[in-house]
Amino acid sequence: MASKGHQIICIDVDKVKVDQINHASSPIREVDLENLLLTCVNHQANLKAYTDYKRILNSNMTFICVDTLSRSDGGIDLSHVRDSAREIGRVLAKVRSYHLVVVKSTVVPGTTEGTIIPTLEKYSSKKVGRDFGVATNPEFLQEGKALHCFLNPVRIIIGEHDRRAGDILQEIYQDFSAPILRTDIKTAEMIKYAANAFLATRISFINEIGNMCKKLGIDIYEVAKGVGYDPRIGNKFLDAGIGFGGSCLPKDLEALIFRAGELNYTAELLQSVSKMNKEQPLRLVEIARKRLGSLENKVVAILGLAFKPNTDDIRQAPALSIIARLLAEGATVKVYDPKAMPSAKRLLPGHIKFCDSAPDTIAGSDCVLIATEWDEFKDENLYAGKLVIDGRRTLNPEKAKQLCQYEGVCW
Ligand code: UGA
Repeated sequence: MASKGHQIICIDVDKVKVDQINHASSPIREVDLENLLLTCVNHQANLKAYTDYKRILNSNMTFICVDTLSRSDGGIDLSHVRDSAREIGRVLAKVRSYHLVVVKSTVVPGTTEGTIIPTLEKYSSKKVGRDFGVATNPEFLQEGKALHCFLNPVRIIIGEHDRRAGDILQEIYQDFSAPILRTDIKTAEMIKYAANAFLATRISFINEIGNMCKKLGIDIYEVAKGVGYDPRIGNKFLDAGIGFGGSCLPKDLEALIFRAGELNYTAELLQSVSKMNKEQPLRLVEIARKRLGSLENKVVAILGLAFKPNTDDIRQAPALSIIARLLAEGATVKVYDPKAMPSAKRLLPGHIKFCDSAPDTIAGSDCVLIATEWDEFKDENLYAGKLVIDGRRTLNPEKAKQLCQYEGVCW
């Protein structure tokens, strides 16, 4: 938004992040983000971060972009959204002109109307629609290419409480060339969940077909290619493997299933998508056990910890459940990831062997499991003579089979 010429005030409760941003250093890794921060913070001087909510007084609209966490029952933990709505409400009490609050955080259908608006009204003693506006504007960014996704959106969804709120939000996007869908608030909230649940469903679907294909001696990647030519289906998100991880797809799927339960509806299809996704990574371990007899005291190398390549994010990464199962079966586990080692060292048990490179990890192992398809794992020569079980179609099966004992999770 700053690169589009707007004056941006960022607010966060975390002073470290605020300081980082003000020094044009990004607290997260995203392609091109640091360069753009540098331009906006230092050269254009139109982006500044603070810890004080009162800074909202100097703005026309506030985007709520805080994280929504997962509760242990799968439901959505709204504490950060509630906290920010309360603080924004307190400042709104002092704002003299019309102010628009935009919910960008991913919240289950009904949350903005049921929780956020009442909180804003309570703490501001003002009325939505009359004294201030509310709209929702779900984000569709993919980690690793978030800036590109933001600047080149495929659609912009505006969920408006009323026309005035929607008009103001739409104006912000006048420089963007994507189709804009204006709708009501809870429809916009559902569009976000339906999109992520559908992507998750495609992945579990192709994994299920893949598991069958493997038994039939059919290559799932050929099948996906053939199926994907149909424009009604398309070829994206049909890469079979060990399933989806990350901070969004698994969490949003569980939250939607939980929301269905609150409505006395059993979301059977989504439940199966989730079950399938929990089991799929463990297939790598099953294959290893079958090939090695038992995993007790076997040395297993895991290549890739991040939930996908080009990120250091290991949240809900399939590698984590693979490691837990291997340890439970008495294996010695060695791990390596090009970017995720710092987060892995913080999160994984200390008796895992953290390695510095792929060759280091592979050396001395009884079996290599590939859990993330990083480019540096794609050289078949790394694996000469080894037992390799590929969870992400990282290697070319034909080439790999000439150099090592190669098996794919579902090919
Ligand atoms: C996902 C969605 O793709 C974004 O549109 C959405 O905005 C975002 O969640 C969000 O809700 O914020 P992201 O979490 O960055 O984005 O991850 P994806 O690129 O969607 O990948 C998710 C997982 O699916 C990864 O573990 C990936 O390896 C796996 N995947 C993806 C497959 O197993 N097969 C595929 O064909 C594609």
